[in-house]
Amino acid sequence: MSCLLLDSNVPAQLAAAVARLRADEPVALPSETVYGLAGRLYSEPALAKIFALKARPRFDPLIVHVLDKAAGAAISLGLNPLEEKLIDAFWPGPLTILLKKQDFVTHLCTAGSPWVAVRAPSHPVFRRVLEELGEPLCAPSANRFGRVSPTSSRDVVAELGPYGLGAVVEGGSCEHGVESTIVRVNENVIELLRPGAISVEQLVEASGGAPVRNIKVEKDPEKEALLTPGSALSHYAPRTPVLFVEDYLQFGPKFLASDFQNCALLEVFPSEESSWDSWAGAKERVTLSPRGSDLEAASVLFATLRGLDAEGFDAIVALRGPDEGLGLAVNDRLRRAASRRLG
Ligand code: TXA
Ligand code: MG
Repeated sequence: MSCLLLDSNVPAQLAAAVARLRADEPVALPSETVYGLAGRLYSEPALAKIFALKARPRFDPLIVHVLDKAAGAAISLGLNPLEEKLIDAFWPGPLTILLKKQDFVTHLCTAGSPWVAVRAPSHPVFRRVLEELGEPLCAPSANRFGRVSPTSSRDVVAELGPYGLGAVVEGGSCEHGVESTIVRVNENVIELLRPGAISVEQLVEASGGAPVRNIKVEKDPEKEALLTPGSALSHYAPRTPVLFVEDYLQFGPKFLASDFQNCALLEVFPSEESSWDSWAGAKERVTLSPRGSDLEAASVLFATLRGLDAEGFDAIVALRGPDEGLGLAVNDRLRRAASRRLG
């Protein structure tokens, strides 16, 4: 079975995407973060097919995508002032908020949690589909579970076509390139569950200085799993082993040279180190943003990982970049793509 590539500018093709969704078939849609594998919130068969296509464990809940604040409020038990403030500041856009769910939001969607994760995407194609359909869509990233998220329709077809995905709507390359930021409001504190396309700095500013607490527990995957089950430590993984170097000064090229022949080096920004030549095994050096932009680094991260994965290196050695802005999300994804971490 081949995967249809639909053009949202052709009314009949947009209608075909919507008809598939109505018929409980998942359809991959572009969003401003990454491509999502969409299915109707109110269709258990559609959600079951999403889990099957991704080979995703049922304990990992799905983000619900809505058009606006009213639609988000309608599936929740209501919004407190800080939640409203964040929604007003960032919707439509890449902020996902955990809200107390209404009873009708199913077990399959939230994996049994009383919290539902909700966001309003800004991508015009995703929004057009939501408008035509007139109901919310669940959409995890359109990749097999644990693998790199797709940021182009071509990546989606390569990733899920072989497993029977029927259709993807074309929407160009994703603007942000990393997934939405996931937060939960706890009294007046913003709990950060997944760093993403909205930075901590933006959250602080928009909330008028509310404290942001990072409650991802890096060292305790079991505890972390209870909060965002998808944040299993190994995620976003290419087939090529990734080594993440947390502390470059301690574990620089000289230390690693003996371990790795035929590897690629991946750095976020240009490194000031002059010792690259001493990295004997490195065959290629890739800089995510040569001009030092965290936005650019995030937007090309997953496509770069996919590209390097196709080149047949023995390993990809990734160096931690600065944590500022979207750097936090970039480091998070690289860390979780890694099969080994140093430092
Ligand atoms: O940018 C994004 O958020 C993309 C686009 C397509 O919207 N979607 C996305 O979905 O990244 P996914 O399923 O790949 O990642 C969602 C994460 C998972 O780690 C999941 O465990 C967590 O959100 N999550 C979803 N619902 C949750 C809930 N009710 N409680 C806690 N974590 C939740
Ligand atoms: Mg994902």
